[in-house]
Amino acid sequence: MARPAHRATTANVAGLYPFLAGPGLGSEAAYVGQDGTSAFCFDPWALYPRFLTNPNILVLGQLGRGKSALVKTMVMRGALFGRRAAVLDPKGEYHDVAAALGVELIRLSPGGSVRLNPLDAGPGAAELGPREVQRRRLTLLQSIATAALKRDLRPIERAACRIALDAVSSGDAVPTLPQVAAALMEPGQTAADEIRTTPDELARSSHDVALELRRLCDGDLAGMFDGPSTVDVDWDGPLVVLDLSQMADDEGLAILMACATAWIQAAVARPGAQHRFIVLDEAWRLLNDLGTGRWLRSSLKLARQYGVANILVIHRLSDLLAAGDAGSEKHALASGLLSDTETRIIYAQPDGEVAEMAALLGLSRSDQEHLVDMQRGHAIWKVGRTSHLVEHRVSDFEKAITYTDQAMETNAGAA
Ligand SMILES: Nc1ncnc2c1ncn2[C@@H]1O[C@H](COP(=O)(O)OP(=O)(O)OP(=O)(O)O)[C@@H](O)[C@H]1O
Ligand SMILES: [Mg+2]
Repeated sequence: MARPAHRATTANVAGLYPFLAGPGLGSEAAYVGQDGTSAFCFDPWALYPRFLTNPNILVLGQLGRGKSALVKTMVMRGALFGRRAAVLDPKGEYHDVAAALGVELIRLSPGGSVRLNPLDAGPGAAELGPREVQRRRLTLLQSIATAALKRDLRPIERAACRIALDAVSSGDAVPTLPQVAAALMEPGQTAADEIRTTPDELARSSHDVALELRRLCDGDLAGMFDGPSTVDVDWDGPLVVLDLSQMADDEGLAILMACATAWIQAAVARPGAQHRFIVLDEAWRLLNDLGTGRWLRSSLKLARQYGVANILVIHRLSDLLAAGDAGSEKHALASGLLSDTETRIIYAQPDGEVAEMAALLGLSRSDQEHLVDMQRGHAIWKVGRTSHLVEHRVSDFEKAITYTDQAMETNAGAA
């Protein structure tokens, strides 16, 4: 006698084979790839508030796993759904994406013609109010100084930064970094009175900060972030790319990236703005430095308010934890950052990283098994509380635009 066939709903099957038939996140979004046999689509704004309460995204993976290719296709496919993007491109790999979307790159280079003022208030200034604008400027300024000095600022130095910034921001004037450095060098009587000291004493106490800021303006930042902005950007277009690849690949890059990101964030924080990704490829450079890392974290908080989803690309969680033990500020920064990025896209990780990652991200045993042997283009997507094993699918047209090793493959083929 034949047994009756067993019937179950897809919800039951998903329970048995979560990676083969996940219930998905809906299809009103750009296609990413395959989650088992289902199409996996993702759009952080469409998932709010049912699956996500914040739109920020962390992409984690070893070299060459397909992180950047994924983000590039998210930007291009998102454009079809009316999503905008602003990209910080330290490796100079977005020119083909920009060309495909019909936009010009903004190339920053020492001695080049483009200058961006990281202290710009941005078009949302009226809505934010002068206090909030100054608060953001001050946070950036103090972070740059911390990163340049490679140590925390002393209380007097923090106060001196605030006083110098206020001194050069009277009325509607937009301050610049060299102006702040000059005000730190020569504080006036009013500035000194504010903290019950003398101008000489104040100047002496903040001399290190003033010197570092001046050095940056004459050196690393010269011609790029040391004066009023010179570009006029079409923020209604699908994509804005800041190409930073002409800059020296050294410690100063974290400060340059912070300045560039601050400028983008001020520019896109506008009332009624369209939903926009801000892509920080190689974000580990910012996070490796406590000064710029702190600043980045504080700036992520603004995301939801302006419909911005930040995408941070890093190699491994230990990038964030490198310099500290479990109780250190660095560790707190890392876990804070994780709570600010509710979508985590995790590519293959080295064995040694998996335990720590599992603890911090709450990965299941099956997630952990996948982590060590996933192929290129495959990643675990933790979207809020849901988990998906996704193979990112890339069309031939997109491969030509997004893959970074095309030249190597072509040469290998020719050899
Ligand atoms: N979805 C995919 N499926 C198969 N191969 C892929 C996929 N995405 C990328 N690749 C391959 O991996 C290569 C590296 O991709 P990509 O530049 O995105 O890596 P990455 O993780 O950003 O590396 P890095 O950490 O060095 O920046 C691509 O040139 C391509 O050959
Ligand atoms: Mg990359």
